[in-house]
Amino acid sequence: YVIGVDLGTSAVKVLLVDQNGTVTAQASEAYPLQQPAPGYNEQNPDDWVQGTLTAIQHLLATSGVTASEIEGLSYSGQMHGLVLLDAAGQVLRPAILWNDTRTTKQSEEIMAKMGPRFIEITRNRPLEGFTLPKILWVKENEPEIFAQAATFVLPKDYVRYRMTGQLNMELSDAAGTVLLDIAKKEWSREICAAFGLPLSLCPPLVEATTNVGTITAEFAQASGLCSQTAVFGGGADNACGAIGAGILHPDQAMCSIGTSGVILTYEPDTTTDYHGQLHFFNHAVPNSFYSMGVTLAAGYSLSWFKQTFAPDASFNDFVGSAATSTIGAHGLLFAPYIVGERTPYADAKIRGSFIGIDGKQERSDFVRAVLEGIVFSFKDILDIYAANGKNFKQLVSIGGGAKSPLWLQIQADIFNKDIVRLESEQGPGLGAAMLAAVGLGWFDSLSTCADHFIAVKKVYHPVAEHVAKYAQLHQIYQQIYPQTKGITG
Ligand code: XUL
Repeated sequence: YVIGVDLGTSAVKVLLVDQNGTVTAQASEAYPLQQPAPGYNEQNPDDWVQGTLTAIQHLLATSGVTASEIEGLSYSGQMHGLVLLDAAGQVLRPAILWNDTRTTKQSEEIMAKMGPRFIEITRNRPLEGFTLPKILWVKENEPEIFAQAATFVLPKDYVRYRMTGQLNMELSDAAGTVLLDIAKKEWSREICAAFGLPLSLCPPLVEATTNVGTITAEFAQASGLCSQTAVFGGGADNACGAIGAGILHPDQAMCSIGTSGVILTYEPDTTTDYHGQLHFFNHAVPNSFYSMGVTLAAGYSLSWFKQTFAPDASFNDFVGSAATSTIGAHGLLFAPYIVGERTPYADAKIRGSFIGIDGKQERSDFVRAVLEGIVFSFKDILDIYAANGKNFKQLVSIGGGAKSPLWLQIQADIFNKDIVRLESEQGPGLGAAMLAAVGLGWFDSLSTCADHFIAVKKVYHPVAEHVAKYAQLHQIYQQIYPQTKGITG
């Protein structure tokens, strides 16, 4: 067996996976998100460690498997979160997460100082969510904490450190710091020097399938895991989601709806230049890359709406109610910019909208508009791909968006593409388990592993009449951003 640890923003989920790729047991543990000021999103790194420990205890208790049967373990992690450590490896302040937007000033300063050279090295624009602006924010606003910082890691790298005692950063996640020369796979001395950061702050790099060590005696004792279990580097959640969805070749693309949402494709090398319009990171598949566009509030828009307007409804009934509405939600459009947006607008200040409210509409219309609005924002990302000559025949849908047949059909109709639903909806957790399986040598490559682990459940085809209606609505949707840009809270 292998374990895939999926360290998300709202919870950690652990999967026990056998050699056929079957998920035989799973457990999850939620942890809080602190929002001490507008735009701030923080978590306590020790909550991730404790949550992982508890989830593994539950997994072992319910699985009927003995710990020595678990050969390997790996991770998928929420990206970009800054965990600052002192020389003794102690956490210096709460982690500043990917969805924290306090760093507009620092992001602008990076661009002002380095301009296109920054994009050339990192292949990304410096956005609020990425790690470098967060490091610069701490340097500027909490100099006494920064002075004690010996190194920094990302969320899953911190959990791995606490489980193995080995301090490393894994490459697909390291790319999301925007301190990495992604083509050379090494820390950029030029960027460190430009912003007065000592190179010693950057930890050693490992590949996703590298065996970094085994479980410490202390963590083994506390969790019930066996101290011989091999631990592998793991990957960024989007890279792992892609692996778990079999996105291992250039003609494949994925649509993932978690807290944030992503349209992603595999890039064999760095030749396609999106000029920073899309993110471009090292893949967890050694020596390859992936590009993606991000909708900041995808599943989060839906959970915000439910929490605010229907806290007592069951999630399935709530989402299912959208079926009683119509295409276009009886004239209601939603733009999901409720915490700002990354792609295509890179604007942390824009906010969301409902447009076209009618006294006859019901809550089900609002639910439908939210489902559709999230997918319209993905369509904007697909349009960037199309402008760069990438017209995917189909997309694999994973995450929350793959659980509802109605939402899957909406994706097919708005994208005008086939949408594939997989047998396993585990996405990133399965990808993490695949990294352990390949690291252990169960398979010679992730592609071979994917052939064994991943199966299609159903394909949703676009319906011409729906496609035409949605194409019209998408044109109106695209006017929402420029028309509402000036509204600030
Ligand atoms: C990607 C991003 C999010 C997080 C979610 O750049 O910020 O998708 O990875 O965990």
